[in-house]
Amino acid sequence: MKEEIEKIRKEAIEEIEKIQSTSELNETKVKYLGKKGSLTKTLKNMGNLSAEERPIIGKLANEVRDMLEEKFTSKEKEIKQQELQKRLETENIDVTEPSKKSKLGSIHPITKIIKEVEEIFLGMGYKIEDGPEVEKTYYNFDQLNAPKDHPSRDLQDTFYITENIILRSQTSPVQARVMENENPPIKIICPGTVYRSDEVDATHSPVFHQIEGLVIDKNVSMSDLKGTLEMFAKKCLGENTKIRFRPHHFPFTEPSAEADVSCFVCGGKGCKVCKGEGWIELLGCGMVHPNVLRNCGIDPDVYSGFAFGFGVERIAMAKYGIEDMRLLYENDVRFLKQF
Ligand code: DAH
Repeated sequence: MKEEIEKIRKEAIEEIEKIQSTSELNETKVKYLGKKGSLTKTLKNMGNLSAEERPIIGKLANEVRDMLEEKFTSKEKEIKQQELQKRLETENIDVTEPSKKSKLGSIHPITKIIKEVEEIFLGMGYKIEDGPEVEKTYYNFDQLNAPKDHPSRDLQDTFYITENIILRSQTSPVQARVMENENPPIKIICPGTVYRSDEVDATHSPVFHQIEGLVIDKNVSMSDLKGTLEMFAKKCLGENTKIRFRPHHFPFTEPSAEADVSCFVCGGKGCKVCKGEGWIELLGCGMVHPNVLRNCGIDPDVYSGFAFGFGVERIAMAKYGIEDMRLLYENDVRFLKQF
C-alpha cells in the first residue's frame, strides 16, 4: 500500500505540473482528492492493514494529501495569474470603435425663443439681466408707479407669499432693480419666469415667461422705441414684418402703447394664426414714467427712456403655429422634437 500511495504522489505531482487551465486543475483535483479520487479510495482500504502498519500508512497518506493540496493551491494561483495576463493582452478596448449613440433631446421652444431674442438684443448692444422670481411688492408694484388700488395687486391675480412678498407677476420689477443699481446709460433685457393666478387653458398658464427691455439715456424718444421694436420684429419674425402701435395704459410708462405685428403667416390678409385680423398683438411698451425714474434715483429732467415687455409663449405660439399653450408644458417628446 505504501508503494501505491507513493505512486499516486508521483503521478499527481507530474500531472499538476502540466496543468494549463482552471478546468484542468479542477478535474485533476477531483481525480486524486475527490470523494472517489484515487488517494481517497486507497485510504478506504486501510481497514485491511495490520495494527502496526495502519498508523504508518495513515501518516504517509495525510502527508501526501497535505502536500498535494498545497501544490494544487499554488498551481491555482499561478494559473489565475496567467489567465489574467492573457485577458489583459487580448481584451484590450478599441478606442477607435464608433460609440453607441445616446438619444439627445432638443432645445425647448421657449428656450429657443429666449436665446434668439437674446442674440438679437446682444447684437444691438444690450446687456442681459436677471432678477428674483420671489419678489417684493415694492419692486413689482410700488417702484413701478402702480397705484395701491391697481387691479393687478388683487389677491385673485397675484400669488402672495406674505403681504409684501409675491411671486413676480411680470419681469418689469427688474427695471426698478437695475435702475437703482446702475447709472445711465442703461440698455438691458431680462428674460424670466412670471406667475399669475390664472386658470390653465389654451392661452393661459399660471406660470409663463416674459422678456423685459429697458433703455435709459439722455434724449431717448418714442421714435427710438419704435425703431428698436421694428428692428426686433423683423429680425425675430421675418424681414417683411410690419409693426403698428395702439395707445394703451401701463402705470410705469407714459405714453404707453401696445404693439402689433403684421401676421407673418398670411402677410396681413387674415388667416387662422392671426384669427382673420391680419395683425398679431406682440407686446406692451412706452416711455418710462418720470415717477418711476424718480423712485429709482434717476433725474427725469436729465434722462428719459423706454421700456417694453412681452410674453415668450405668445411669440413661440405665433412663430411655430402652436394653437394650445399647454403643449409647451406637457413634455411630450413627440411634440418637443419638432423644434
Ligand atoms: N409688464 C407688462 C405686463 O406684464 C408688460 C409691459 C408693458 C412691460 C409695458 C413694459 C412696458 O416694460 O413698458 O403686462
